Amino acid sequence: MGASTQVPMTAPRIRHSKGSGTPLVMVTAYDAPSARVVDGAGADMILVGDSVAMVVLGYDDTLQVTTDDMVHHVGAVARTRPNALIVGDLPWLSYHVSRDETVHNAAKLVRAGAGAVKLEGGRKRLESVAAILDAEIPVMGHIGLTPQSIHALGGFKVQGKQMDAAQTIVDDAIALAEAGCFAIVLECVPDGVARMVTDSVDVPTIGIGAGRHCDGQVLVFHDLLGFAGVGRSTPKFVRRYAALEETATLAVAHFADDVREGRYPSSEETYHMTDQMADVFESSGLELSSRAETASEPTVSPPV
Ligand code: KIV
Repeated sequence: MGASTQVPMTAPRIRHSKGSGTPLVMVTAYDAPSARVVDGAGADMILVGDSVAMVVLGYDDTLQVTTDDMVHHVGAVARTRPNALIVGDLPWLSYHVSRDETVHNAAKLVRAGAGAVKLEGGRKRLESVAAILDAEIPVMGHIGLTPQSIHALGGFKVQGKQMDAAQTIVDDAIALAEAGCFAIVLECVPDGVARMVTDSVDVPTIGIGAGRHCDGQVLVFHDLLGFAGVGRSTPKFVRRYAALEETATLAVAHFADDVREGRYPSSEETYHMTDQMADVFESSGLELSSRAETASEPTVSPPV
């Protein structure tokens, strides 16, 4: 899989990749630059996750974003025309109230450019899954730690640590797969539970904090790139592949220094008036210091 084929990824292709031996890759993105990075890196799926609430919008949980917020972010990702499948996250309360609202909200994400939607919950959400599938929209499930249930769960905690809770997760996964979900996210469950789920369903499992026995893995863009707050603690499953927040802060500090020290902008970074215009100004008595660059032209300090 991956962007190299240049064939746009689809939910059926993801569904049928189960057992291919090549793990699926999904990364979140919420805007055009992050979508270009994720797609350019060859991810199979871009998840426009409701995690946007926490990693971009500064909220403490994911409950604050609305369908309109998600439409805004899905649209930004879609306008980059990625090869990867765009999965739009249905936010809290967008699929809990009625069948009609559920379908209309899912359709809004599709009209914004998503090729599939994701919702949280197991057997409790089968009616929503059926309604969305009935509107011909592919659905990705999400079980284990479901952040939209944060108050009901009592916090961001590993799920399925007891035998009955583990069995509930397996049964939920089987029900979602049988209902027609094309893939299932498994968040924060012990690896043995993830293995049971992966072996029990014929659709790919995509793990986050679920160990290696999944058919694919997903991480949040800002966690993966070290752009989630310097010094902020991240869950143990996050592997940070870059330190972009430090790099970006240094770059902006460099710009600030250049401005304050008069090194920015240089002559090359300036639109100059023609000599003819400068002559006209000067003949009318105006003193022009920037006609041609002077001996005091600042030297450009190269970015680090
Ligand atoms: O919103 C999100 O980023 C997610 C992932 C954690 C799977 O749902």
